[in-house]
Amino acid sequence: MARNIAIVGTGYRGITLFGRALTSTMAAEDARLVGLYDPNPLRLQAAQRLLQTSVPLFTDFDQLLAETRCDTVIVTTVDRTHDEFIVRALKAGVDVITEKPLTTDAEKLRRILEAERQSGRRVTVTFNYRYAPYATAVREFLASGKLGRLTSIQFEWYLDTVHGADYFRRWHRQVQNSGSLWVHKATHHFDLVNWWTGQDPVEVFARGSRQVYGEHGRPHGERCSTCHVAADCPFAFDWGDPVLTALYREAEAADGYWRDGCVFSPAVDIWDTMTASVAYSGGAVMNYALHAYMPFEGYRIAFNGTQGRLECGVMEAVTPVTTPNFAERQRVRTSPDTLRADQFPLAGGSEDRLVFYPLFGGAEVVTIPRMVEDHGGGDERLIQALLHPEAPDPLGHRAGTRAGAYSILTGIAARESIQRGLPVRLEDVIDLNLLQ
Ligand SMILES: NC(=O)c1ccc[n+]([C@@H]2O[C@H](COP(=O)([O-])OP(=O)(O)OC[C@H]3O[C@@H](n4cnc5c(N)ncnc54)[C@H](O)[C@@H]3O)[C@@H](O)[C@H]2O)c1
Repeated sequence: MARNIAIVGTGYRGITLFGRALTSTMAAEDARLVGLYDPNPLRLQAAQRLLQTSVPLFTDFDQLLAETRCDTVIVTTVDRTHDEFIVRALKAGVDVITEKPLTTDAEKLRRILEAERQSGRRVTVTFNYRYAPYATAVREFLASGKLGRLTSIQFEWYLDTVHGADYFRRWHRQVQNSGSLWVHKATHHFDLVNWWTGQDPVEVFARGSRQVYGEHGRPHGERCSTCHVAADCPFAFDWGDPVLTALYREAEAADGYWRDGCVFSPAVDIWDTMTASVAYSGGAVMNYALHAYMPFEGYRIAFNGTQGRLECGVMEAVTPVTTPNFAERQRVRTSPDTLRADQFPLAGGSEDRLVFYPLFGGAEVVTIPRMVEDHGGGDERLIQALLHPEAPDPLGHRAGTRAGAYSILTGIAARESIQRGLPVRLEDVIDLNLLQ
């Protein structure tokens, strides 16, 4: 029987991924969109128009729960509010699918875990990167045992000056809203490592600084649309996408949410340069780095083991020199012409590669078709998995609160480590028995 699903939070992610999927023919047999909630009535109306749906709109969450009789909610609100909607839905006997990060701090996590236990309902965390064919191939390779015992990991993630900068324009730029990129963004990366290796993080020693965004910038206005230097600023926001205009610019009057805030605002209090050493339960140690102002977007990771070394990497996008309209820029960032293998060795034409170097003998190369779709092809596969929750899941792609929790606890411990200047054990952040 088709599930009745409501979307909580009608911003870009809620609408362009989940809203569109639930109103498409793809979902027809498995799920039905029964309502939309957002505190901003103008954004709600824009979402309804964009989705061409007549489902009821709610600015009161309890009313949505009572009137739609939904059996599942998809939470796509600002990160700091996820816990509020997850807990209220669970208490009402409703299953939850939540966007990452599960939440932003240990106290909110405790509330979610307690509510889930008491309600007996299911919480699913949408780790779309797990579903990318490349990430799946890494998981399969590590499960083969060829690497021997995993000893260490070198992991670097690059965010470029289009996508990376976007986190410094609006709510993400404050720790209280997003938990910082240690949680908001790195939750993906730490989850991948936990899932790939089957090990849990134990201790984190981190450093963080702000090198490019925030108060380091040049003289600026508060937002790009009225800024006197926007015409010459390579970071200026582009309103070229009509969906952005409908969801944000035309909804500003209701809540003052500026989509084009200046990335050089003194309001920025998150880090843009982050490094950490993380110790894992199976004895592996990881060196991790995240930079939010790189000339390209993607990642490199190497796994060292007692039988060899596995080198992996994906180039997702390269920032073009020119900045034409938004849609064009998005296309150019990921096009094969831009991602030229001679300039970007990781980009490599139509295929991505894993390369295994055994301690003795020649290299073994695994090729995976290159995915230019969102999040390495992860988004569309995630949707299929959400629509068919009972389908076989041999590699364990599906994630619940345990995975959601471990993926954010590394980042929460990293924040504490930076503040204290000391390594932080996860067991000192939360009682890990709650995650059993
Ligand atoms: N998995 C991924 O790759 C991925 C990608 C993008 C976004 N996301 C996640 O999706 C979520 C939404 O991101 P977005 O980019 O759509 O952000 P957004 O700002 O476009 O949307 C957030 C929505 O939350 C609403 N909101 C603000 N304050 C609220 C409150 N107090 N209570 C309820 N709702 C409130 C806003 O009105 C807005 O509609 C975030 O949690 C983000 O981490 C995940």
